[in-house]
Amino acid sequence: MPATVVIGAQWGDEGKGKVVDLLAERSDVVARYQGGNNAGHTIVAGDQTYALHLIPSGILYPDTLCIIGNGVVVDPFVLVKELDQLEERGVDTSNLRISGAAHLIMPYHVQLDTQSEIRLGKLSIGTTRRGIGPAYMDKAARIGIRVQDLLDPSILRRKIAIALEAKNEVLEKIYGEPPLDADAVADEVLALAPRIQPYIADTSLILDTAIRDGKTVLFEGAQGTLLDIDHGTYPFVTSSNPTAGAACTGTGVGPTRIDHVLGITKAYTTRVGEGPFPTEIADDAGRHMAEVGHEVGTTTGRARRCGWLDLVALRYAVRVSGMTQLGITKLDVLSGLSEVKLCTAYTKPDGTETADFPWHQSDFHSCTPVYEAMEGWDEDIVGVTSLDDLPPRAKAYVERIAQFTGVPITLIGTGQGRHEVIDAVEL
Ligand code: GDP
Ligand code: IMO
Ligand code: MG
Repeated sequence: MPATVVIGAQWGDEGKGKVVDLLAERSDVVARYQGGNNAGHTIVAGDQTYALHLIPSGILYPDTLCIIGNGVVVDPFVLVKELDQLEERGVDTSNLRISGAAHLIMPYHVQLDTQSEIRLGKLSIGTTRRGIGPAYMDKAARIGIRVQDLLDPSILRRKIAIALEAKNEVLEKIYGEPPLDADAVADEVLALAPRIQPYIADTSLILDTAIRDGKTVLFEGAQGTLLDIDHGTYPFVTSSNPTAGAACTGTGVGPTRIDHVLGITKAYTTRVGEGPFPTEIADDAGRHMAEVGHEVGTTTGRARRCGWLDLVALRYAVRVSGMTQLGITKLDVLSGLSEVKLCTAYTKPDGTETADFPWHQSDFHSCTPVYEAMEGWDEDIVGVTSLDDLPPRAKAYVERIAQFTGVPITLIGTGQGRHEVIDAVEL
């Protein structure tokens, strides 16, 4: 798998971190291409658990080059903290490279994200309040601060002063907050520059060279398809494109260079934050998923909403990213349920049924799921590594997913641990 994009097929937290870590063992380069520290990617390696927010999930392998691409928004304070924490635990971070074109999340972005959510009240998006939206807003408005600006203090100071002029008005007049001093903000950020500087590099060139040399490259998506600003459940989305196309724009690699797109889905569905979720359930099965699956957000500690697997949404995710393979995680969590359900269509408010993801938000917000029920299985499958050891009903469940989506399933997660997985299969 020379160049493979690994992306979330749902609303995030599908287990991308675990899968990327697993594949990174056999990869030369892992590159993040969008999002920021709104992500929380958990890796369980032996008795060690790592929660990565910004640094690619390949960092645990000393020979794997890790890249933070231009499409990522980088909070310099979080970056330095994450680097320090990894190094304290003995992880070598010298193989990290950061694009000079990536934008920085500034302290005022975090403040504006929080204030905006508070002001929206009941209409809030439920963001992670990490400044993601405001940072991408400034990028699009062309008043953003970039990683390369850390190398030139006078440019950095000027840019911060320009950006803050308008923001201080918003902070003071709309949110009733004290204004920020541009020089104080610049001082704080510049104090981190020497720590970040050694990592800054021409990451597009590094990736191009790696692919030309026949190296194995993984593009690690953050968030998931339904949180995509264009293809997700807008406005309850993040401010970037987690879908596969962004792997190119977010790293500076052309689309002809990508060989595979591996979509990751849980065997059920979860969502953190606000927004529609047709297959959400609040019954015993939902509680089972939340408890057995430990469904608590890695970044914010919020409880994740749980529900059945939505095949309509999954097939849509396959379409918008051109997925060539699927990985199903957390199949082990469904053990013990007498019945498992798959959503195969929606009933729209006008009473008609559709098996295609509705393009109109009102249809999606008000649709009800049409389920296909399958018999559950009781066997504990934690740690199973061979397809032959799966109970027939669990196997039938996975086979139905492959059949409905038309995409081969090449990986099945059976536990949190790095090697608790049925890998290199094709169902
Ligand atoms: P990501 O954001 O997509 O990387 O996913 P998160 O790390 O936020 O959430 C997925 C959670 O499920 C993490 O705690 C993983 O350790 C865990 N996980 C991943 N795959 C499996 C699996 O196959 N079985 C179980 N039980 N847990 C898994
Ligand atoms: P990983 O990479 C799950 C959600 C937030 C909120 C919405 C917008 O771990 O899968 P934002 O802070 O991005 O402006 O919030 O997106 N969200 C995630 N949900 N997993 C994530 O990342 C998420 N990143 C953002 O909860 O609903
Ligand atoms: Mg996560």
